[in-house]
Amino acid sequence: MIKLKKILSTALFVCITGMLMVGCSGNTEGTAKKRIVRVSLSQSEAHPEYVGAVEFKNYIEAELGDKYEVQIYPNELLGSQTKAIELTQTGAIDFTIAGTPNLEIFADVYEVFSMPYLFTSEEAYFATMNDTDYMNEIYASTEETGLQVVTWYNVGTRNFYAKEAINTLDDLKGLKIRVQQSPASVKMAQAFGSAASPMSFGEVYTAIQQGVIDGAENNELALTDNKHGEVAKYFTYSKHQMIPDVMIANYKFLNGLSDEEREVFEEAARRSTEVELQNYEETIQEVKRTAKEDMGVTFIEPDISLFKEKVKGVQQEMLDANPNIRDLYDHIQAYNAEYEKEAE
Ligand code: GCU
Repeated sequence: MIKLKKILSTALFVCITGMLMVGCSGNTEGTAKKRIVRVSLSQSEAHPEYVGAVEFKNYIEAELGDKYEVQIYPNELLGSQTKAIELTQTGAIDFTIAGTPNLEIFADVYEVFSMPYLFTSEEAYFATMNDTDYMNEIYASTEETGLQVVTWYNVGTRNFYAKEAINTLDDLKGLKIRVQQSPASVKMAQAFGSAASPMSFGEVYTAIQQGVIDGAENNELALTDNKHGEVAKYFTYSKHQMIPDVMIANYKFLNGLSDEEREVFEEAARRSTEVELQNYEETIQEVKRTAKEDMGVTFIEPDISLFKEKVKGVQQEMLDANPNIRDLYDHIQAYNAEYEKEAE
């Protein structure tokens, strides 16, 4: 399956690159007058993000269907997230949905989301991401990369899961844990005492199955939708990160739209987020039930205060190393404080 995916993805890559080289800029036979807009995502058709992407497509085609056809490519068909971002940068793909860690090497302001325990409450996380005026400034600040984020998606909290139970930090010590392909993710996992092993999302299942790694870290959907629960039976609620996925646009394409078209694309992005957020909320309880009852995964609630304590120096280290994250970090701290006060 993975081999087939690789062959397909290579074939598509060659095809898309070829099209660009002959200057077709996305038009395909039979739809000569319509501009094909490609959206890539790593998740399957059953994932809330796919439902969000369909909303994006439907809205654009309902408003501008005579001009644009939106094609959605799920399951890493156009390549892993890092590869798909590169293709979005060149314009071979117009939009990619990816986790912010994959964006860090292109725009280091997104490193901030990889900090362990950055948000002190779910409310602060949602308030930050829904603060569209502020976030739009961040999104628009990456012109020189050729990329611009247009919206975000909720993918819950990240937690460790492995073949063996992780009840304490000692259990995590030295374990080979897959992390996303970003320097900050590696730092995070090492700070917990584990051996970080960066690789693309699509490789994780086989790597756990074959014992190349002991486990990984993610939300509960990885257990069911990506079937990791078949090979890793223990999921520990360390809740170490809330990392958004984002829809990333090719900068030129987005900024080359007319004002009216741009409004439609922005509204489509806004609606896709709304639909995704709602779908995530509705499906996550069922996902946990499936993992537990049908796949036999054990969920563990550790003493999180010990996990927090273990990595408490990481935020400062990251701030010292990358001044570009300061403003967003401070902005998030203000929301943290606001919601902590409310909770008192
Ligand atoms: C989540 C997230 C993805 C990310 C993946 C990963 O599934 O939604 O965007 O790529 O984790 O760990 O790679």
